Amino acid sequence: MKLKLSRRAERTSPSATLAISALARELKASGRPVLSFSAGEPDFRSPESALTAAKDAIERGETHYTANSGIPELKSAVISYYRDRFGLEYSPQEVIVSGGAKQVLYEIIQTLTDESDEVLLPSPAWVSYVEQIRMAGGCAVPADTTDTGFIPSEDRLKRALSDRTKGIILNTPNNPVGTVYDEDTLRMIAGLARANDLWIIYDEIYERLVYGEAKHRNILQLAPDLRDRVIIVNGVSKTYSMTGWRIGYALGPKEVIAKADDLQSHMASNPSSIAQWAAVGAINGPDDYIERCRSEFERRRDILTGILGGVKGLSMTRPDGAFYAFLDIRNTGIPDDMEFCRRILEEKYTALVPGSAFLAPGFVRMSYACSEDDIREGASRIKDFIESLRNEHPQY
Ligand SMILES: Cc1ncc(COP(=O)(O)O)c(C=O)c1O
Repeated sequence: MKLKLSRRAERTSPSATLAISALARELKASGRPVLSFSAGEPDFRSPESALTAAKDAIERGETHYTANSGIPELKSAVISYYRDRFGLEYSPQEVIVSGGAKQVLYEIIQTLTDESDEVLLPSPAWVSYVEQIRMAGGCAVPADTTDTGFIPSEDRLKRALSDRTKGIILNTPNNPVGTVYDEDTLRMIAGLARANDLWIIYDEIYERLVYGEAKHRNILQLAPDLRDRVIIVNGVSKTYSMTGWRIGYALGPKEVIAKADDLQSHMASNPSSIAQWAAVGAINGPDDYIERCRSEFERRRDILTGILGGVKGLSMTRPDGAFYAFLDIRNTGIPDDMEFCRRILEEKYTALVPGSAFLAPGFVRMSYACSEDDIREGASRIKDFIESLRNEHPQY
């Protein structure tokens, strides 16, 4: 007899990238020289300060349950970080530490979203937001940014609003596009939130990875009066190359954080004690680690955009942050991103992520969190592939 799954389980979609990753694994296993540009994680070693703090914590026997919402030392490191970096003041009751930013986002979305609530999502968007909103019974309403330079426009956001809209999720620097929202855009969104009584989840997990003239701002620096409706999400995964440790956190109004804490207490309890100590080591550690990673990503970005910038048929907005390039493939001859990713993997052994995974069909995401050699080789495979398509589709 077949087990009957819950309607909730039935509604949860598998990742749009699964078919491509399965094919990449299969080709690799059969000895093909597959290069993967799908990683959403820095390829650097975690900072020594984190490794040492973790080893010390093991030696001290910090191997038991901790306070559910995080050890005081980590909350205090996060609070000082936000004070020093953004001039924002938080108390320990306004901070929760979880098993990654993804988990804390889930908890916050569960805390703020009721059945049939609508949540605005500038798109392209990180697909877990969509699924997490759905898991809470809500509905993600995308506001397309593909023809406004990947920056949300007031007009589009206003058109996406309804009397059921409860909040908006912002992610800057952005995954998958790499855009960094400017101050005017943040002020415009703050104004919409104020006028329409919306909460804002402000996911700034890539805030330290910003290049050139671009400057990252926390929305509360520009609109401090929104403090009681903004929940900031951040973590150590991207800034300190600590994706495997699973530490993320949120800062926000006490009542929201308290409910997320209740949810976490039934769902997962505290995040790993050792990983929390590692995060204390990272956040309190020397800042030059962050600058070394940032400048290396900037160098790789310049190499990648230098090669791909001249490819006929391909267009891209120069990424100002994070470590992704988002390529517009609509004029390459294969405008279907799933098909494009399948073919470039089969023919050039190059794994990219289809834009459909981010509500943006017609685009593909390439991560440059890999070695310079791989970036050069991957970019030239993409160039060759697109040139070969021109023979198949001379009109492009
Ligand atoms: C936009 C965004 N938010 C949150 C996360 C989650 O990060 P983690 O759960 O590793 O802290 C990611 C990871 O890819 C991300 O891209």
